[in-house]
Amino acid sequence: MFENASFVISNTDHNLCPKPDKPEFAFIGRSNVGKSSLINMLTQKKNLAKTSGRPGKTQLINHFIVDDQWYLVDLPGYGYAKTSKSNRVAWSIMIEKYLLERENLQMVFVLIDSRLEPQKIDIEFVTWLGEAGIPLGLIFTKADKQSINKSQQSIARFRKVMKETWEELPVMFVSSAESGLGRTEIAEYIHGVL
Ligand code: GTP
Ligand code: MG
Repeated sequence: MFENASFVISNTDHNLCPKPDKPEFAFIGRSNVGKSSLINMLTQKKNLAKTSGRPGKTQLINHFIVDDQWYLVDLPGYGYAKTSKSNRVAWSIMIEKYLLERENLQMVFVLIDSRLEPQKIDIEFVTWLGEAGIPLGLIFTKADKQSINKSQQSIARFRKVMKETWEELPVMFVSSAESGLGRTEIAEYIHGVL
């Protein structure tokens, strides 16, 4: 488990991020999928990352330090329908540069809404990460909103789509920021990589 977490800095430019002297894990996914809520759940700090019922809350690359040992990064979500084209382009440039050039990045967790059929935008993003050779894991969020059985079916469908093109599937977790489901598994996994 994680003992202590605190905010470090927010940026639009990966060059201004903290010195890359510690391993880093980033959380990304569709706007409103629950990235910031999951970060608060994992660190057991209610208001560490800013959350909102409205999509598009997180706009910057947000660094947090955990146990003086590793960086946790909250990223702005993709796929917010109401955003402008220029915002979307700015997002892609900022995020792609960060993901491709951040030398201490160990792994990216892509969050997926456990209630939805496999979404094209998620598959495309995960494929992009895979092709870029960036290690990734999947976290299926908001599992408290339905039965665990339904979440498992959702994961199975996602797995099936990925299997068409992926030889080795990424590690997968189910989570709920409400109930704390997945916290131990995700924390143990991160500790295992560290
Ligand atoms: P952006 O920063 O806008 O990209 O969104 P985000 O992915 O960081 O989502 P955020 O954590 O702000 O959560 C969005 C909404 O979903 C908020 O209203 C949360 O309370 C809700 N939410 C997030 N995770 C869960 C969950 O596990 N269960 C339930 N029931 N609601 C959740
Ligand atoms: Mg957020």
